[in-house]
Amino acid sequence: MKGKVIVTRKILEAGIRALNEAGHTVEVNPFDRDWTTGELRSAARDAHGLLAMLTDKIDAQLFDAAPDLKVVANYAVGYNNVDLAAATLRGCSVTNTPGVLTNATADLAWALLMAAARRIVEGDQMMRHGEFRGWEPLLLIGAELSGQTLGIVGAGRIGQAVGRRAAGFEMKILYHSRSPKPEFEKATRARRCSLEELLRESDFVSLHCPLTPETKYLLDERRLALMKPTAILINTARGPIVQETALVRALRAGKLAVAGLDVFEDEPQLAPGLVELSNVVLCPHLGSAATATRERMGLMAAENIIAALDGRRPPNLVNSEVCKE
Ligand code: NAP
Ligand code: GLV
Ligand code: GLV
Repeated sequence: MKGKVIVTRKILEAGIRALNEAGHTVEVNPFDRDWTTGELRSAARDAHGLLAMLTDKIDAQLFDAAPDLKVVANYAVGYNNVDLAAATLRGCSVTNTPGVLTNATADLAWALLMAAARRIVEGDQMMRHGEFRGWEPLLLIGAELSGQTLGIVGAGRIGQAVGRRAAGFEMKILYHSRSPKPEFEKATRARRCSLEELLRESDFVSLHCPLTPETKYLLDERRLALMKPTAILINTARGPIVQETALVRALRAGKLAVAGLDVFEDEPQLAPGLVELSNVVLCPHLGSAATATRERMGLMAAENIIAALDGRRPPNLVNSEVCKE
């Protein structure tokens, strides 16, 4: 069928064009801000497809307000913003954008790791404040990567891509995942271990698991305390995997050396005290923000919507129970 598709934020043109070319009527949020809950419900009320952002809360109330909705294509690989049970109950497909953002997000994790290790942001601040007095033997000494241990929590697509980068930098790799990854182990000499061992042994810890009820506050005060005082924590997964107030306390007390963060517990708010710390590198959730990646994400979301509205199984379906073949 040809349907009405709502796009909740302006995205790069490719995805919109694909939807238009497939004959759908496309309506894009005209504002440079998220729609309010009320605006989103009202925009979606007669929609058949929704191209949603990770900042949209797609819950039972939204589905009730949009009874014709056949598909929600989340413009992200993470889909913790979508109530899957509510979608399935109403026969609505939910899709995500796996794979196309793996390298871009791994690159961002690596950029944060390098910036945190080598104190790039502190150096930049110093230059801008006119405090550079020339080369000094003790100036902004940081951590070296080669020979150090990186612990990867959640060795899926992005976690493994970060592991491959680490192998190229001659690092030792530990990982914690629910299932073993023999190919990854062979390619990078990574070793699977418990989360506790990973936290105790790693010089760098990078988080790549999804946000689920099991991973909420996976790094709480107790687990953060297991980390080396010289350790560097990178989070490009989801903010609530780390208890942010506990992280601020640990960084302030020197129980953890540095954190590089792309995601936050309650975006766009930051935990009190976080911005005052010099041992954090902060990024505004930029993991997938590379041009080619964002184009591919739009095309992928569009393909999923087009398939679902054609009555086909969308290629990146996450609530497979919705298809009753
Ligand atoms: P993925 O391929 O599904 O990888 C996630 C991995 O996490 C899987 O290997 C899974 O393990 C593991 N896992 C799940 N629950 C776990 C637990 N309780 N403890 C340890 N490991 C667990 O997903 P991906 O494409 O790599 O994306 C990962 C996450 O990155 C997304 O969910 C999203 O939240 C985040 N992300 C952020 C950005 C950004 O802009 N910062 C961009 C893209 C993605 P098993 O293999 O054992 O099942
Ligand atoms: C971004 O955070 C994503 O999950 O794609
Ligand atoms: C530093 O600039 C060096 O030459 O070692």
